[in-house]
Amino acid sequence: MNLIKNDLLLRTLRKEKTERIPVWFMRQAGRYLPDYIKLREKYSFFERVRNPQLAAEITVMPVKQVGVDAAILFSDILVIAQALGVDVEILEGKGPVIADPIRTKEQVEKLDPANTAEVLSYALPTTKAVKDALENEVPLIGFCGSPWTLLCYMVEGKGSKDFAKAKQFCYQHPDLAAKLLDKITEASIIYLNMQIQAGVDTIQIFDSWGGLLSPSDYRKFSLPYLDKIVKAIQPKVPVILFAKGGWFALAELQATGASALGLDWTIEPSVAKKMTGSAVLQGNLDPIVLLGPAKNVEQETITMVKNFGVGNYIANLGHGVLPQTPFDNAKTFVETVKNFRM
Ligand code: CP3
Repeated sequence: MNLIKNDLLLRTLRKEKTERIPVWFMRQAGRYLPDYIKLREKYSFFERVRNPQLAAEITVMPVKQVGVDAAILFSDILVIAQALGVDVEILEGKGPVIADPIRTKEQVEKLDPANTAEVLSYALPTTKAVKDALENEVPLIGFCGSPWTLLCYMVEGKGSKDFAKAKQFCYQHPDLAAKLLDKITEASIIYLNMQIQAGVDTIQIFDSWGGLLSPSDYRKFSLPYLDKIVKAIQPKVPVILFAKGGWFALAELQATGASALGLDWTIEPSVAKKMTGSAVLQGNLDPIVLLGPAKNVEQETITMVKNFGVGNYIANLGHGVLPQTPFDNAKTFVETVKNFRM
């Protein structure tokens, strides 16, 4: 085991004391970075993901250029759909597209988690290339999507405001939905174990569409599968659970045993603390604040870190950074957190 020089994130996940608050942000690798946008002209999205040298170069960009305290592997949550045998494309300006969405029993039965290690075999050389490129400066975060969020894309076939087709599928065919969620869960655990074997230091699970469910449907379609993943992974590396819009489930997400809980910007820090006691919390600046003005970025970031305080807290945005974010504002966000002392 090599020691990581800046291990603020890992110490916070273990609830140890730190000199200052660690900071990284969701979707930090790509999109708003000028050097990433240049690479996009030459390679398609999944070419960038499957090429270990390119993926490593993109993963370390925000560490070198923005100064974040952790790297997150450059990939996408939709690789799990590919592992199960579904064709996924990411189209410029459109996002993920699945030409043949999963809607029938036959389609669900055909999906096979047993091919995961083979389809995603590039994750091993990529993770190792990233670890080499990081030179033990900061920890590396691995990730996957939650089974529910994956189901949303696999059934809907594309991004959506309400994922009505995906939800309708769950209400019409709850047994089939459970089968699909089981298969996604199995593939996700295999994939996370590959990332851990290759050296990631912690895992974040993105339940980006968890907030579309009612609390009782969340208990049916999301929570049990997250729980299964946490139980398999948390004994190996700390798990961060981020459920966008999922504030209503915070206590139940905490009960999975995950090391930390991600928050979006619709919850007051004091309320999240009241709901979770001494849990490690992560979040939660509205990513639109980073569109400017710069002075407001600084003020809002200071208000956020003051309200959460140093200890048991990881500074982040409340969702992914937006592509149109000015580079300097991303940097101001990170530097404001790094300079903050109670
Ligand atoms: O954090 C990081 O920067 C690491 C890489 C990462 C990507 N996607 C790269 C990416 C991570 C962690 C993700 C997760 C992801 N992907 C989520 C969960 C987080 C969230 O935002 O809720 C979701 C829902 C997806 C699905 C997805 N992938 C969408 C909706 C899109 C299109 C919109 C967009 O531009 O992000 C993607 C494509 C994608 N994934 C891009 C990147 C950098 C942009 C495509 C490109 O650059 O060509």
